Amino acid sequence: MGDDSPNDIPRHLAVIMDGNGRWAKSRGLPRKAGHRAGAEAVREAVDYCNEAGVEFLTLYAFSSENWNRPKAEVDALMKLLERFLKTKAREIAKKGVRLTAIGRTDLLPDSCRDELNKVIEETKDNKALTLILALSYGSREEIADASRQIALKVQSGELSPDDIDNDTISKHLDTAEFPDPDLLIRTSGEFRLSNFLLWQLSYAEIFISSKNWPDFRKSDFQEAVENYSRRHRRFGRV
Ligand code: FPP
Repeated sequence: MGDDSPNDIPRHLAVIMDGNGRWAKSRGLPRKAGHRAGAEAVREAVDYCNEAGVEFLTLYAFSSENWNRPKAEVDALMKLLERFLKTKAREIAKKGVRLTAIGRTDLLPDSCRDELNKVIEETKDNKALTLILALSYGSREEIADASRQIALKVQSGELSPDDIDNDTISKHLDTAEFPDPDLLIRTSGEFRLSNFLLWQLSYAEIFISSKNWPDFRKSDFQEAVENYSRRHRRFGRV
């Protein structure tokens, strides 16, 4: 992609799936019904990306701050995630999707974490879309963890402080093996990053949709990608 040429399809798409609660409230339903509808939208998102040729899709499914929600809601989200991993993840695996995760997944309930690790192992050689679930994820924590690992390498003499550059940091993040996202979509009309991929989104294009996540369909992805493809990314150059 040249400096001034329009973009093609984003190689890596990242999504902050916001508005499940508002979707439910506007229908007089409990919040967990909004999350259930959100999980359906996840399946559609995966299908869209897989069919469109997106290589990586990162979904902000549970932030490190989400642990502070009422216990009943956290439990409902964990149950939903486990069900997703047992059923929908298996369906999408058949379509060649590889599933993986970033974040402190060791903090997930045992049954959820075991299921997650099983799906990661089962799909590790799949060659279509890579679906990256951000679970118990916080970008600042991720950067702090990376800094700690780098400090330990300096302490042991494996690394010299003079050799630390952008690439060193990138390689110590949970996302080390993935390219940076090209496009970030956030739903429900909020203009915030909410501690999501702060380092990795440095040059991403941002698309904000007023729709709540459960209402965000394939046609909305198409609109976001078309909008992205008309933009000119300059990476700080003229
Ligand atoms: C934000 O909506 C959404 C979440 C905190 C969780 C996202 C979870 C899902 C989409 C479903 C489960 C995911 C998978 C991968 C199975 P909100 O509750 O903050 O909405 P609000 O701002 O309207 O209250």
